[in-house]
Amino acid sequence: MTATDIPSPPASQDPRPEGLDEAAVHRLVHTFYARVQKDALLGPIFGGRIAEDAWPVHLAKMCDFWSSVLLKSGRYEGRPLPPHLALGSDAGEPQFARWLALFRPTALEVLPPDAAQQAIAHAERMAYSFRLAIGFHKGEDTTRIIPYG
Ligand code: HEM
Repeated sequence: MTATDIPSPPASQDPRPEGLDEAAVHRLVHTFYARVQKDALLGPIFGGRIAEDAWPVHLAKMCDFWSSVLLKSGRYEGRPLPPHLALGSDAGEPQFARWLALFRPTALEVLPPDAAQQAIAHAERMAYSFRLAIGFHKGEDTTRIIPYG
């Protein structure tokens, strides 16, 4: 058996889209939260919970989160649900709709197209699972909650 007979490993099931790297993740997070902070609905919600001087820490955490999602870096080790459950009526349908309405165009603008689709699909799944968990917590009929996308 020669070296050329050795089968090559199977192609990755989840190839990294072209142009998707830590710099792209940084661009996504910083552009998105700059827009969130200026948004009439979401800005005050974030502003009320993240002090001005705590933003760099929040942004670094969100870079870790998106790096783990998109680049499988494993850097984020937090639990995303509890702070969202604690938001009460500030995490309702209008807020999730606005969050996604800001996130989708930002991802399409700053990421390569395949990466943007991955990021949007992940955000939609997480938003849906937050809505389910929040509805369940409130004793609502969660079968009424429809997924995005
Ligand atoms: C209604 C829409 C949303 C609102 C108002 C919201 C608000 C917030 C706020 C205020 C924090 C900071 C909490 C704190 O440090 O005390 C936070 C953290 C976070 N958010 Fe959201 N969020 C929303 C949707 C989402 C979605 C859709 C995702 C996922 C794609 C997400 C992912 C995260 C993550 C990973 C953290 C960090 C949690 C941790 O480990 O501390 N959020 N969010």
